[in-house]
Amino acid sequence: MRKPIIAGNWKMNMTPAEAERLVAELIPLLKDAACEVVICPPYVDLALVGKLLVGTNIKLGAQNVHWAPKGAFTGEISADMLLAIGVSHAIVGHSERRQYFGETDETVNKRAKAALDANITPIICVGETLEQRESGVTDTIVSKQTIAALAGFSAEEVVRSVIAYEPIWAIGTGRTATNEDANTTIKVIRDAIAGVYGQKVADEVRIQYGGSMNAKNATELMAMPEIDGGLIGGASLKSEDFSKVVHF
Ligand code: PGA
Repeated sequence: MRKPIIAGNWKMNMTPAEAERLVAELIPLLKDAACEVVICPPYVDLALVGKLLVGTNIKLGAQNVHWAPKGAFTGEISADMLLAIGVSHAIVGHSERRQYFGETDETVNKRAKAALDANITPIICVGETLEQRESGVTDTIVSKQTIAALAGFSAEEVVRSVIAYEPIWAIGTGRTATNEDANTTIKVIRDAIAGVYGQKVADEVRIQYGGSMNAKNATELMAMPEIDGGLIGGASLKSEDFSKVVHF
């Protein structure tokens, strides 16, 4: 059985003071969650939020991680640095990173591997553009992105990873994939993993859906057999909304 995992991606939102208020609201609301819960604040909030989360069931995630242990990489943060402040998860290869900051399949692979080496769970994002969906290449694109992100991983490392299927046209647009489309594409991703690592490994990997998932549609999406969780942007910034998603 795959344990569902709901992760909040705060993106570039929340000053430390705002983060403190949101976390204070989230802790009591989420304390009886049946699923694994992760929140991913911006880097400047991580140390503070990490302290607030000690002793709670909410896990701390970063929004990225660099592959090198240290060195001349201005603006980047290493896995060991994140680990030192209590980070257990890191989003890798979000479409906004790929689109605006030159992230490639190769750098996504390196970042995810560095996270795993530090015992941090990478949440690896894949997903097609609207143009790609409309021209019928979604399955090829997401399979290729997934296999490239996992290149060189052992079976055990694949199982420790989380994949987030996020159709780019659904992110921040209010336009969610239908439950069936999300489920079908996640099955395609699982089949691609099975093709390389075998069915047993594929059956153990958790694959989230992301893209305008919210308090209203979470129940239906989470009822789909292939969907093991959600990566939540906008709806993770309001405690009541995020709590409803977590209690799908
Ligand atoms: P959204 O973002 O929920 O605001 O669409 C999801 C994501 O980008 O992870």
